[in-house]
Amino acid sequence: MSKILVIHGPNLNLLGEREQDVYGKITLEEINRTLEKRAQAHGLQLEIIQSNHEGEIVDTIGQVKRHRFKAILINPAAYTHTSVAIRDAIAAVDIPAVEVHLSNIYAREDFRKTSLIAPVCRGQVTGFGPKSYVLGLEAILGLIEL
Ligand code: DQA
Repeated sequence: MSKILVIHGPNLNLLGEREQDVYGKITLEEINRTLEKRAQAHGLQLEIIQSNHEGEIVDTIGQVKRHRFKAILINPAAYTHTSVAIRDAIAAVDIPAVEVHLSNIYAREDFRKTSLIAPVCRGQVTGFGPKSYVLGLEAILGLIEL
């Protein structure tokens, strides 16, 4: 069964209570449950992590080959706009990654309009709320051999 690594970046553990006008009321647990259901339907196995720590995310990405992951689904959250280290980690491991965002990062403050991560991903899904994750997973299905 193909293994996919799902990474939720900083503050996404606060979904449901955090800036509800921007991110809605859905919790990270609910998003993860939906993803798990979709993954099962497609015969994928997910490993899901949430971290508020850049180095921990870098370490996790660095181990994808050892753990035989086929692809990465990542919402880098605020690190999207700042992290050369996460960008370099994704570039280094050379397996397909898809970047997702709940909000449309291009319709918000100027500092969110740049993603340092997107250029090393196969694509980006942004602005569809929790559905962005589901669409991102669908995109991964087209990128990997099951
Ligand atoms: C986010 C967008 C980022 O700009 C922000 O820092 C987040 C969440 C999103 O999913 O819309 O934490 O990645």
